[in-house]
Amino acid sequence: MAAKDAQTEERMTDRQLRDEVLTLLVAGHETTASTLAWTFFLLLEHPDIDEALGAEIDRLGDKAPTLADLERVPLVGQIVRESLRLFSPAWFIARRAEVDDELCGVRIPARSLVFVSPYATHRRPELFERPDEFNPHRFDPNAGPAGGFSRFAFFPFGGGPRVCIGHGFALMEAQLLLIVLRRRFRLSLVPGTRPQPSPQLTLRARHGIWMTADRPSES
Ligand code: HEM
Repeated sequence: MAAKDAQTEERMTDRQLRDEVLTLLVAGHETTASTLAWTFFLLLEHPDIDEALGAEIDRLGDKAPTLADLERVPLVGQIVRESLRLFSPAWFIARRAEVDDELCGVRIPARSLVFVSPYATHRRPELFERPDEFNPHRFDPNAGPAGGFSRFAFFPFGGGPRVCIGHGFALMEAQLLLIVLRRRFRLSLVPGTRPQPSPQLTLRARHGIWMTADRPSES
């Protein structure tokens, strides 16, 4: 609220401030929260990977993890990326054409809406081997496909001039939270529930993702 532009000394109006807070909440909070929720669901479905994650983060000891620690736990980043591939919170990105155009032989009249979907692209078999499978190792530069993915095969944060401004922050935040929460709780899916993706403004789970959380010593 007190921030001033360094050159002009201008402050934000109340309206701008409100818009900025709303953007942080909608663009920054729900997307990362949803990524973590799907990540924990995927780990419950893949106990071998969850166990490998536990062994990896044990290396960091008990202290609060920092950005510098992340390079020592590469599986954490691979898990977050693989979860973003399968359950991209921004499951579609829309643009309105300003003028008549043509894309890959398709006529795009001015003012029409054009959608691209990270969710759909991330599950194309031409781009990812066994695309519906949760396999964080595909993001391991040593084990993944030679040369990695093409730039726009994996684009949970969009691309070009409007690429997510919070991209680096979100990846860092999700990884640090995954470490802290994985250490502190043992999660289990509430029996009889199974999350179903629900494409709304962001990709949510219809009826939520229901889990119980126990302290490791209590489970
Ligand atoms: C997993 C987390 C996140 C995902 C998947 C995500 C995804 C995206 C995507 C796909 C776009 C581009 C939309 C477009 O091209 O129309 C975008 C834009 C944006 N994101 Fe994120 N985001 C995440 C986290 C964050 C965080 C943590 C912040 C802020 C702290 C943030 C702030 C923004 C803002 C302000 C824009 C608009 C940028 C512009 O138009 O210049 N996002 N995000």
